[in-house]
Amino acid sequence: MKPTTTAVVLLCASGAALAQVAQDPIGIGPVPELLHLYYDEWPTGIAVSASGRMFSNYPLGLDPTNTQYQVAELNSNNTETPYPNAAYNSPPGGAIDYTKYPPQSKGLANYLIGVQSVVVDPIDRLWILDTGRALLPNGTLTTSNYGGPKLVGVNLSNNTIFRTILFPPNVSYADSYPNDVRFDLRPSITASGQGVAYLTDSSSEGRNGIIIVDLGTGESWRHLENIPQVRPEPGFFVSVWGEPVYSNPGNGMPISRLAFGADGITLSNDGETLYFSVVSGRHLYGVPTARLRDRSASSELFAQASVMDLGQKGVSDGLESDSNGIVYGGSVETDSIIIFNPQNGTVSTYVRDPRIEWTDTFSVAGNYLYFTENQLWRGASQQGGVDRRVKPYALFRVPLLNNATKIELV
Ligand SMILES: *[C@@H]1O[C@H](CO)[C@@H](O)[C@H](O)[C@H]1NC(C)=O
Ligand SMILES: *[C@@H]1O[C@H](CO)[C@@H](O)[C@H](O)[C@H]1NC(C)=O
Ligand SMILES: *[C@@H]1O[C@H](CO)[C@@H](O)[C@H](O)[C@H]1NC(C)=O
Ligand SMILES: *[C@@H]1O[C@H](CO)[C@@H](O)[C@H](O)[C@H]1NC(C)=O
Ligand SMILES: *[C@@H]1O[C@H](CO)[C@@H](O)[C@H](O)[C@H]1NC(C)=O
Ligand SMILES: *[C@@H]1O[C@H](CO)[C@@H](O)[C@H](O)[C@H]1NC(C)=O
Ligand SMILES: *[C@@H]1O[C@H](CO)[C@@H](O)[C@H](O)[C@H]1NC(C)=O
Repeated sequence: MKPTTTAVVLLCASGAALAQVAQDPIGIGPVPELLHLYYDEWPTGIAVSASGRMFSNYPLGLDPTNTQYQVAELNSNNTETPYPNAAYNSPPGGAIDYTKYPPQSKGLANYLIGVQSVVVDPIDRLWILDTGRALLPNGTLTTSNYGGPKLVGVNLSNNTIFRTILFPPNVSYADSYPNDVRFDLRPSITASGQGVAYLTDSSSEGRNGIIIVDLGTGESWRHLENIPQVRPEPGFFVSVWGEPVYSNPGNGMPISRLAFGADGITLSNDGETLYFSVVSGRHLYGVPTARLRDRSASSELFAQASVMDLGQKGVSDGLESDSNGIVYGGSVETDSIIIFNPQNGTVSTYVRDPRIEWTDTFSVAGNYLYFTENQLWRGASQQGGVDRRVKPYALFRVPLLNNATKIELV
């Protein structure tokens, strides 16, 4: 290094430093509009209703300090109000049963335990996805019990729960982590006619896959069980804002590669293709939704055989899509939001901004794409047990490409 340093000093002394050298312009596309600052709990998801009401979730399964509420409505003054009410967000005595050894998450069907996602469906109902799992203060994720893992429908007109679908332990395993969900409400796709929900299971220590729910019968099942495309990619490495990211919870636990499986999930504008991707990987995958709804004896064989590798897109967490079929994803290494265009199979940068880091989750409402930036990589589980996050966390929006809108599968 020494000779180079000397050379630079000599060049500077000779005046070469005044010359123009090509540099990264950083800014690309629409400038993100800052909508909300999170000063209280740590958010992952965002859901925006047709009228513009905004909701976030704050998973106790990823942050042991998210104890006051799991879901909240965002107020215009950068505060949040527990939703649909405070009581539903407060399991009596907390979410963890310390009388068991090791401690376990409580199986309470009438309370929220650890919510990883909130989504507004095509007819403007809010769905809450509860993993049923809570993190201990020492960084250990407790296993779930029946009643914890669930999908809860809330009527936004009167803020009342209209449906609770519990996942049995043979669908959401005790060490599953149901992460994100998308809805197709077309009556034609099931016998019960109430539509289907598709979920990712991103478990870091258990099996990964896709969970399918018949919203009419409440039945659920799994497909793409632990195949390589839903698993963390071997040898995965990622950095954000120049900082390397590993799983590193401290407390004497080993450093390992970040191991988040199938996480991002979104539907094509005709509902016929489900897109998904793992966090610990770079590929975008597609699978025909008919193969996932099929429960016949050979359905898993055909589902696995029908997965399409749509190529690399960068490292992203959540995914979203619009009425033109454009798929949006984060790109945490390039401070960007990328788009996949299904017309020509290409990936390109849609937005690039120095405020973009860990784009956790997207939501589409009106003609806008909403997204959270939550500094996930700076959390204690990645930083040797030391919380390096800096409040506030942020919610932004940008216009959708070509003034598109939400996909209406009804
Ligand atoms: C912020 O707005 C909420 C909802 O309108 C209100 O209840 C709360 O008092 C406000 N907080 C402050 C600090 O203004
Ligand atoms: C974390 O705490 C739980 C409950 O006290 C304990 O069972 C577990 O061994 C602890 N883990 C570590 C790594 O210290
Ligand atoms: C939501 O509540 C309103 C007001 O009670 C009612 O008119 C509407 O039908 C409800 N929607 C659903 C999906 O239950
Ligand atoms: C909300 O609407 C639903 C569906 O119409 C109804 O069953 C429920 O009683 C309503 N709840 C309140 C608190 O008005
Ligand atoms: C889960 O177990 C229940 C009860 O044994 C059974 O009825 C159901 O079919 C099982 N579901 C799956 C997806 O295996
Ligand atoms: C793919 O199609 C889109 C929309 O027509 C276009 O903007 C983009 O330039 C195309 N990409 C390539 C690499 O041709
Ligand atoms: C975008 O579309 C909306 C309707 O979805 C329309 O009201 C608005 O004028 C459009 N904006 C532009 C710039 O075309």
